[in-house]
Amino acid sequence: MVLSTRHLLGIKYIQASDIQLILETADNFKEVLNRPIKKVPSLRDITIANLFFENSTRTRLSFELAEKRLSADVVNFSASSSSVKKGETLLDTVNNILAMKVDMIVMRHPLPGAPVFLQKHIDAQIINAGDGTHEHPTQALLDCYSLKEKFGELKGLNVAIVGDISHSRVALSNIFALNKMGANVKVCGPPTLIPKGIEQLGIEVSFNLRETLKWADAVNMLRIQLERQDKKYFPSLREYSNMFGLNERLLASLNKELVIMHPGPINRGVEISSEVADSDQAIILDQVENGVAVRMAILYLLARRNDE
Ligand code: CP
Repeated sequence: MVLSTRHLLGIKYIQASDIQLILETADNFKEVLNRPIKKVPSLRDITIANLFFENSTRTRLSFELAEKRLSADVVNFSASSSSVKKGETLLDTVNNILAMKVDMIVMRHPLPGAPVFLQKHIDAQIINAGDGTHEHPTQALLDCYSLKEKFGELKGLNVAIVGDISHSRVALSNIFALNKMGANVKVCGPPTLIPKGIEQLGIEVSFNLRETLKWADAVNMLRIQLERQDKKYFPSLREYSNMFGLNERLLASLNKELVIMHPGPINRGVEISSEVADSDQAIILDQVENGVAVRMAILYLLARRNDE
């Protein structure tokens, strides 16, 4: 089996069979990561550049670990300490990096569509590590992997996504991925943070957190993306937290084994309380752990696709 695509630009552009293949391949790499020697020679002849034009902790380190555990050669680029600061364009920056014989680009960029733009102008394979408010495909794939690990399958699962849906690339990629895998998706948040017409993506919308959580098997609690908000969308963080935050009182009152996810970084006490984030029902650190295996699977399958 091979992927239907040479790049991973977004979940929108891949098929359910691609997601299935990535999740199955990640199972093998998770087994590798639990061995005393966590390294395989699969990408020994491949050079990968990690280009981060925006801050990241999990995604950047997870990609770097995945690449090193596949024996790839790795170079890291951070826009804040680069010649971007001197006015160099994205295309000039990438073409100069590619001139050093780089095979694959992992890129996080604040502008939605930046990886799609780049793919039209360069030959190297591109993996989108998050582009503005558009997509974060590897996060959605690791979320799907973590849900499948917990529940056995995704088909028929009720998954709620709660918070700042309008500014969240995690929400959009998760909606595409979960839809393609046959899960049911409901988004919940203040009306000002849910895009009008989002139901057309085949999901439900709710403005009532308690009702949403009663329906859900799992909930993905999203951070308020204050850095992407150009105006005030709710009166105060305190009011947001009261209406759309998940705390131990609300969780206990549901009296069910709700699985709690969060892509990170967490704003403790806003969208989720510390007690809930650190509870046995939260799989937040499992998501991070699984991210390395899932990214190994993506890198491995894309490199193999290039050989075809
Ligand atoms: N989940 C996620 O993308 O986290 P980082 O911004 O730290 O990479």
